[in-house]
Amino acid sequence: NVSQIPVIAIDGPTASGKGTVAAIVAEKLGFHYLDSGALYRLVALASEKQAIDPKNAPKLGVLAQNLQISFEKGQIILNGEVVTDVIRTESIGLKASAIAIYPEVRQALVGLQHRFRQIPGLVADGRDMASVIFPDAVLKVFLTATATARAERRYKQLIAKGIPAKLGDLLQDLQERDARDSSRGTAPLLVADGAKVLETSDLSIEQAVKTVLDWYQSAIA
Ligand code: DC
Repeated sequence: NVSQIPVIAIDGPTASGKGTVAAIVAEKLGFHYLDSGALYRLVALASEKQAIDPKNAPKLGVLAQNLQISFEKGQIILNGEVVTDVIRTESIGLKASAIAIYPEVRQALVGLQHRFRQIPGLVADGRDMASVIFPDAVLKVFLTATATARAERRYKQLIAKGIPAKLGDLLQDLQERDARDSSRGTAPLLVADGAKVLETSDLSIEQAVKTVLDWYQSAIA
């Protein structure tokens, strides 16, 4: 019975570090990991490749429904092509946020997300993991940090990868994305009922991971 498989839902704004924290928590517990943002990024990339009008919600919904994707050894494959790094750019992130407002797109991705819930458990990160996709999650975390802290983290990541970046532009991009993700009508980014807020501006990754693991132990005790 799938409802007995524990889920840890970790939601939060862009560049909050939730992906990093969620992946480490999953590894430590031996759980599966769902990066739901990657799915929206894949729809954005696929729509770009197929030159679909980013405002054509029905067409985007059909596209999302028929995505040929697989996750293999840390690589993400879309229609036979490795796109792991391509989907991480700021431009795809902004497009993902734009197409994610459509109920047709969100609905098309529900079943796919549910299929990640497998024994012995799942850590899922995104915007609506606790509110919509896994409302029965045993632990719900809203992981956040100030916009400035998030922009600085993103800046350091990009520079470390040798990708040129401007702090001011990054801050503006993420504020634009926050505003859209939080204000949309369908499944907006919010602190779900029963979610614990984890403010990470002054926490290391290790401290954030430890907090989530401690909360999980208490939740299942
Ligand atoms: O987490 P991320 O930055 O990779 O997500 C990219 C965009 O996808 C984000 O700006 C909004 C959308 N998204 C969403 O609407 N719901 C989710 N569960 C995850 C991401």
